[in-house]
Amino acid sequence: MHFQFTEEQELIRQTARDYARRELVKDVIERDTGAIYPANHVKNIADLGFFGMMVDDQYGGVQTDNISYALALEEISKIDSSVAVIMAVHNSLTCYGIQTYGNEEQKARFLPRLTSGEHIGAFLLSEPDAGSDASFQKTTAVDKGDHYLVNGVKNWITSGQTGKVYLLMAQTWPEKGHKGINAFIVDKDSPGISIGPHEDKMGMRSSDTHSVMFNDVKVPRENRIGEDGFGFRFAMKLLEGGRIGIAAQALGIAAGAYELSLKYAKERKAFGTEIINHQAIAFKLADMATEIEAARMMVLKAAWLKDQGLPHGTESAMAKLIATDVAMKTTTEAVQIHGGYGYVKEYHVERLMREAKLTQIYEGTSEIQKLIISRAIAK
Ligand code: CAA
Repeated sequence: MHFQFTEEQELIRQTARDYARRELVKDVIERDTGAIYPANHVKNIADLGFFGMMVDDQYGGVQTDNISYALALEEISKIDSSVAVIMAVHNSLTCYGIQTYGNEEQKARFLPRLTSGEHIGAFLLSEPDAGSDASFQKTTAVDKGDHYLVNGVKNWITSGQTGKVYLLMAQTWPEKGHKGINAFIVDKDSPGISIGPHEDKMGMRSSDTHSVMFNDVKVPRENRIGEDGFGFRFAMKLLEGGRIGIAAQALGIAAGAYELSLKYAKERKAFGTEIINHQAIAFKLADMATEIEAARMMVLKAAWLKDQGLPHGTESAMAKLIATDVAMKTTTEAVQIHGGYGYVKEYHVERLMREAKLTQIYEGTSEIQKLIISRAIAK
């Protein structure tokens, strides 16, 4: 058992860290306040290879391991989780889904422009009545021979507007329940697709989240992924890996808030000394450091299991559950340590606290993670 990163993993971590601290931080508050999409950063990060982390080099990707992916997401999330979630959905859902389950023709057609960042990926599973209960798909994809005719509404779609390559789940055979669901690669600019208004979110405000409406959209048969009825299992498999990414993101939010709090506590004076010398503050920091380290071990273990090709669904749910709770607790304490300064934008921790909340909700709420874990341990 090694608790040491390889040189390549360290390099990837450092590259993400440098970019985040040098560039992302500059205008993160303005982007958050104005809900401004980080187009220039998405391009720059793609140029660094971070949009092809799950893709073979033959399609332009850099195919890193999941540990490197988690490290990169952690570093970016310390500074800007909006950029991290665009990157996470793009890599571990869209690119990974096509790379792993797509056929050769689909990979050659879609992956090169995804890995270059020219096209951004999105994942369309949630619906107004199918969030946690993902198998209750009302969007239909009727088999018309050479194409499927899609009708319905998807919501809470990260990169719903800016994304070009949609992974869409839709029901073809309602009488078969989840076994009737199919997965498709859909071009966002297909006739019949319309996009709802930008969701005015509490946190991660500069990633774009939209509803997407399908009105008699023709999706070519060759865009279906896997065999007929594979869609639900496909979505579940992708979410197992996707949750490692969100856990890493939550870890980054927690670690970012901790680093800011530690710095502040060493500088800010009260009652004649730096506040870190007061146990009320020092013990909070000790708890933060310990809990972050525990969460980090679980995130890295889930990533390692995936890298080994071993089952990782339960561990990714556990990692997401713990890391997102640690993010919520740590960011709340970070605001407390900063006092009044913590409650204003300039000190970043209030934004991290808002971002932490979303990690407990998307790619499966904390309650869904507990459902997955409890079912696994009851077997
Ligand atoms: N891998 C492979 N197959 C799986 C699986 C997995 N991880 N999980 C379930 N399945 C299979 C089961 O084996 C079962 O197959 P059989 O019928 O052949 O036995 C089938 O799928 C149904 O499984 P369940 O009975 O367990 O399904 P369920 O209806 O009880 O739901 C659930 C399970 C875990 C609650 C699932 O619905 C779920 O994950 N819900 C949360 C959805 C979610 O995370 N949504 C996030 C949206 S994406 C997002 O947020 C992206 C973004 O933009 C940020």
